[in-house]
Amino acid sequence: MSKNILILPGDGIGPEIMAEAVKVLELLKAEGEALNWSFGLLGGAAVDAEGHPYPQSTQTAARAADAILMGAVGGPKYDDLPRELRPERGILGIRKDLALFANLRPALAYEALAAASSFKPEIIAGLDILILRELTGDIYFGQPRGRRTNADGEDEGFDTMHYARSEIERIGHVAFQAAQKRSKRLCSVDKENVLDTSRLWREVMIGLSSQYPDVELTHMYVDNAAMQLVKRPKQFDVMVTGNIFGDILSDEASMLGGSIGMLPSASLDVNNKGLYEPIHGSAPDIMGQNKANPLATVLSVAMMFKYSFDRPDVSGRIEAAVKAVLQAGHRTGDIAMPGEQVIGTREMGAAFLAAMTGG
Ligand code: IPM
Ligand code: MG
Repeated sequence: MSKNILILPGDGIGPEIMAEAVKVLELLKAEGEALNWSFGLLGGAAVDAEGHPYPQSTQTAARAADAILMGAVGGPKYDDLPRELRPERGILGIRKDLALFANLRPALAYEALAAASSFKPEIIAGLDILILRELTGDIYFGQPRGRRTNADGEDEGFDTMHYARSEIERIGHVAFQAAQKRSKRLCSVDKENVLDTSRLWREVMIGLSSQYPDVELTHMYVDNAAMQLVKRPKQFDVMVTGNIFGDILSDEASMLGGSIGMLPSASLDVNNKGLYEPIHGSAPDIMGQNKANPLATVLSVAMMFKYSFDRPDVSGRIEAAVKAVLQAGHRTGDIAMPGEQVIGTREMGAAFLAAMTGG
């Protein structure tokens, strides 16, 4: 059966990097893969065209799609919009609407890019961490939240950190199963010394561990995890944590390997339907200049084949071609060392396609 992909280029550099990813889909289709795709609007582009960051037309298409490929959203143009209309609400809206609770964020150190990292080579050589971030709960969505005036007449802002047992259990199962497929070590990150939400989180993880006796479960406070990630990152294999801690730790981890321009992510529902996107943002400062690195988006296509289409062969081929392109010395600005020749978005896309076809 043909797979239907909804493509949401978004804002800033989104359309440019997505154009290169579409060429990968075109290649695979020409080779005989049963793929179809259509384009939709999300974020600022959707606000401009339809007055909402996650409009009805996109909701309908997203619910019907087998997988969604997203570029990036946001830009200074939208900074003054009310919160419900900001581009970020588009991402949060689609995550919640499609119940994409499991966010997979790999942090890898590519050998060819070791020099581009701000860390010593021995700290990061061979680094391969998978961060599992819960994506539809926590302080991001907890109620009540808002602004009010307190009894003393002072302005207050407030949010609610919240997790139900079932929400922790379902991300926990994904995490234990991911660990089973890797080195069988799982580190659960929380703030159990302070937060009641975290006390439940830890209790649930410990409870689940009896169903996965082959996985070694450890726990770490989030502040210590932030420190250990830069001190001795290779101690980690799979990490699982809540929405807000995962937001912060995954950005931190993405820098270990040298460039955020290299990292894809997947957000999955219970049936492995997913939304795939590069970890980096819309980079409005370089938009339209043929400067952005398209490889994180290309690697998002690889993750889509692996997790939603159950085709590790295709994802492996894409990942190998990315490594080959780096090995051959092709560099966009974000991964170039001083003195190295810098190529543009389209040239990097072309080099990647050549590597895919053995060129
Ligand atoms: C991310 C981003 C989003 C988040 C923003 C854009 C809403 O930082 O995907 O990590 O906080 O989840
Ligand atoms: Mg973030």
